[in-house]
Amino acid sequence: MPLSNRNSVAARLQAMADEGRSSARTLSHQLAPADYGQLSQQLAALISGEKDRVANLANCAALLWQGMPAINWVGFYLLKRNTLVLGPFQGKPACTRIEVGRGVCGLAAQMLKAVIVGNVDEFPGHIACDISSKSEIVLPLILDGRLIGLLDIDSPEVDRFDHVDQQGLEGIIQILIAQI
Ligand code: SME
Repeated sequence: MPLSNRNSVAARLQAMADEGRSSARTLSHQLAPADYGQLSQQLAALISGEKDRVANLANCAALLWQGMPAINWVGFYLLKRNTLVLGPFQGKPACTRIEVGRGVCGLAAQMLKAVIVGNVDEFPGHIACDISSKSEIVLPLILDGRLIGLLDIDSPEVDRFDHVDQQGLEGIIQILIAQI
């Protein structure tokens, strides 16, 4: 990679760190809700000029991990032969494969709609990759009318996610989809 490209990615990441977003997830989200407008701008800048799917999904996961408070896992599952396979993520190691129709991810894949689970202990069939997860949001990635994967985010707080998060994350996904 040319040095100028490397420097510009490093500069963008440094600017984000300087804004103090890296420590935001240690705060309660009630005190510091995710700023989806800012995250959208940062994502657009971060993936601008790059078309590699894995690279852009990886940077998106890292950006959300830095910028969303009160989460303990964020990442992607990619649809391969009707199975959801673990993609780029941040957090503890997770289940590698999920069948469509199983768990919260499988439900979102089946319905092609976002799913918010306020309390995973009350969701029959929830797949627990990390026992500290208490609530979850899963959103489909649809490219040219076809499901290509999911964005999955877990929180250690019950009822962490609401329709504001859903709308903000749908905006993030639109930016991402245009670049993969
Ligand atoms: N909880 C998900 C599994 C994936 S992990 O949360 C990373 C589910 O029930 O589908």
